[in-house]
Amino acid sequence: MILQYIKNVYITFSDSGHQHPRVKTGSALAKAGLKKIVLKKVMSSLKRMPTLPPGTKPLDNQVAGHQNADGKIGCLQHDDGTILKPVQYPPKGQREVDFYQEVFGDQGSDDKAVLQLRDLVPKFHGILHSPKESDVRFMKLENLLEDMRHPCVLDIKMGRKTYDPYASQEKIAMETAKFPPAKKIGYQMSGMQTYSPGTGKIQKFDKYFCKDLDEESIVFQGFGKFFSLDGVMQKEVIKDVIERLEEILKWFNKQRTYNFFASSILIVFDGDVSISSSKTSSSSSDLKVADDCCNGDTDSIIENDYSELISKDSEDSKKFSPSESVHPKVQVRMIDFAHVYRIPDEDDNYIFGLKHLIYDLHRLLKS
Ligand SMILES: Nc1ncnc2c1ncn2[C@@H]1O[C@H](COP(=O)(O)OP(=O)(O)OP(=O)(O)O)[C@@H](O)[C@H]1O
Ligand SMILES: [Mg+2]
Repeated sequence: MILQYIKNVYITFSDSGHQHPRVKTGSALAKAGLKKIVLKKVMSSLKRMPTLPPGTKPLDNQVAGHQNADGKIGCLQHDDGTILKPVQYPPKGQREVDFYQEVFGDQGSDDKAVLQLRDLVPKFHGILHSPKESDVRFMKLENLLEDMRHPCVLDIKMGRKTYDPYASQEKIAMETAKFPPAKKIGYQMSGMQTYSPGTGKIQKFDKYFCKDLDEESIVFQGFGKFFSLDGVMQKEVIKDVIERLEEILKWFNKQRTYNFFASSILIVFDGDVSISSSKTSSSSSDLKVADDCCNGDTDSIIENDYSELISKDSEDSKKFSPSESVHPKVQVRMIDFAHVYRIPDEDDNYIFGLKHLIYDLHRLLKS
């Protein structure tokens, strides 16, 4: 199975989780006789990668965070429909494990706010140990993209401050420099993936795209792009997302148990839409963005071309009209709890960002 495909080098995974790099036949790389050298380089970097647990592969559609590279494992998807998130080095990894165990613990907590979190975060299914490396552990979590055919995914990091109370001056400076407008708006985009029903292509926007946004363009270029399918704004999806964000806000307004730093909200909706037979195609050209993203770094745009798959239905896809879509599936959940602390105070850092995010989505809706 081909899972990664970057600049003519792709990696296949066997059932046992072993990784095999291959160079695309007929590519310039192969023609130039560089195949052996490239494969040797890729192999040596793969050798440092821990073995993937059986029945898993790197998570499709991951938009931010640690990925499978440089000897490190990122999020994985399991054949059983869950995802496996590697437990990071201590203390941050264990902090996230403790958080999930507290929320989903067998006995249940006395704290109502803790129990209510079960509906706002991915379901937790326990800890899995790597069969080979004893120090590698995974959190088994609900995959929020399950059952979605063409997930559009957006990771929004919350808070004016994305460093915790124990961060060093160096860490504070680094985090603050990542996206200065966060101080004003209280959130930032970490990465996203969009889908075009017309062409069958997904497009990824990485941290470099997100960094170049400001407090205005994040709304109209960032969210505007994310919530559009071939140029048609999915207003019902935005309304649904706002409602779910308001549920999260309600929880934050009541709870006095935790403060969340550098935590995200993951927004997902299915770009799979019903195909109309009567309307003509809507233009997608105004939303072609590959050129302005990622500072020309082609590694950061990974496009999966599904056009072959839809070519048979090309007549139908020409008639596609996203505005006629049935209301797609939507998921809005809090994720990433490596910097969650028990603090018996209102989490005003998160609340500020959440209110601003809701306000900005209303602005987009009205535009
Ligand atoms: N439950 C989930 N379902 C689907 N996708 C997920 C889920 N959790 C995470 N992801 C994907 O993985 C990405 C990274 O997740 P997360 O933020 O939890 O990890 P991280 O940033 O690498 O972790 P950490 O900050 O703890 O080092 C998200 O942006 C999202 O694309
Ligand atoms: Mg993250």
